[in-house]
Amino acid sequence: MAFRHLISIEDVSMPLWEELYALCEDIMARPKAYSLACSGKVLATLFFEPSTRTNFSFQAAMMRLGGSVFGFSEPSATSTAKGETFADTVRMMSSYADAIVIRSPYEGAALAASLYSEVPIINAGDGGHLHPTQTLTDLTTIRRKRGAIEKLTVGLCGDLLYGRTIHSLVLALSRFPEISFYLISPRELSIPDYMLAHLKQLNQKYIETTNLESVLPQLDILYMTRVQRERFDDPAKYERLKNVFILNRRKLMAAKEDLLVMHPLPRLEEIARDVDDDPRAAYFEQARLGMFIRMALLYKMTHMPRIPAEPLRDNTEGVCVNERCITRREPYLPKLAKPGALGQCEYCDKNLLTR
Ligand code: NCD
Repeated sequence: MAFRHLISIEDVSMPLWEELYALCEDIMARPKAYSLACSGKVLATLFFEPSTRTNFSFQAAMMRLGGSVFGFSEPSATSTAKGETFADTVRMMSSYADAIVIRSPYEGAALAASLYSEVPIINAGDGGHLHPTQTLTDLTTIRRKRGAIEKLTVGLCGDLLYGRTIHSLVLALSRFPEISFYLISPRELSIPDYMLAHLKQLNQKYIETTNLESVLPQLDILYMTRVQRERFDDPAKYERLKNVFILNRRKLMAAKEDLLVMHPLPRLEEIARDVDDDPRAAYFEQARLGMFIRMALLYKMTHMPRIPAEPLRDNTEGVCVNERCITRREPYLPKLAKPGALGQCEYCDKNLLTR
């Protein structure tokens, strides 16, 4: 399939990743040469959920390419508040812009948007599901700091259930050679079943554990995450789980000298401030690199042709079990099962119920 939308990191083939990374390096080396690369192009940013880095790094990236940006970060100021459907909002924006960046609290929202858009859709986070441009940022960081993405023991720590950055990073890293994972979380926040099924299908090496300190000495990369308060129905449960893992300078003494400590940010208590000065702390540089890889992505995606949306048809009778699936919020969306996995929702990967 030709690259058209970035919904999942799996839409980025390995050759495309190499192309984007090379472009990112060139942009960093020669920023002036790209300062008009997107002149006359317009990016729409539709943020139905709060964001600092993702939203502003996309805006900064587009401006540094000489392009323009419009959009919202407060949907209450748009016709969504009047009851306009998501599909109609996307249709309109796609007629004004050359590419659309979208973040939503609903899982599968970016895929849904791609069904109605004439221009490329970029998933900037869909609920607790996926976050592929954060993963491009993460891969860029690992590649720059390590020289290559291979032979790495990677610890993923914190909220593996709702952490969308984790899901996309696991999907991405499992395509590189000799990567093994420690999945470090409380049992209640362990990685979703569909992700485990994927890892098993790939014969990927992974170990699930609840103990960060016991595995820390073996890690080449430690990817910490915030417990995702906004996805919890029960505030007491969040309070109980939010600080289960705290990385601090004392614990880091047991880690490798060349460990990379990464975090998509925002960081709450899970990384103590005393880690920030440690040379192994990579998270602020990671956030900066995100802007450059997004420049490479925007350069590529805003120059793609406008293609009319195709007519839509259901391919299943099934209803998604996931209450946070975009199909539960926008019932007119076509009912779609994953090709080859008829019981799985194409939008959010959760199970479909057939009557
Ligand atoms: C992450 C997100 O929004 O999923 N933030 C980001 O994009 N850098 C992680 C988080 O919010 O915890």
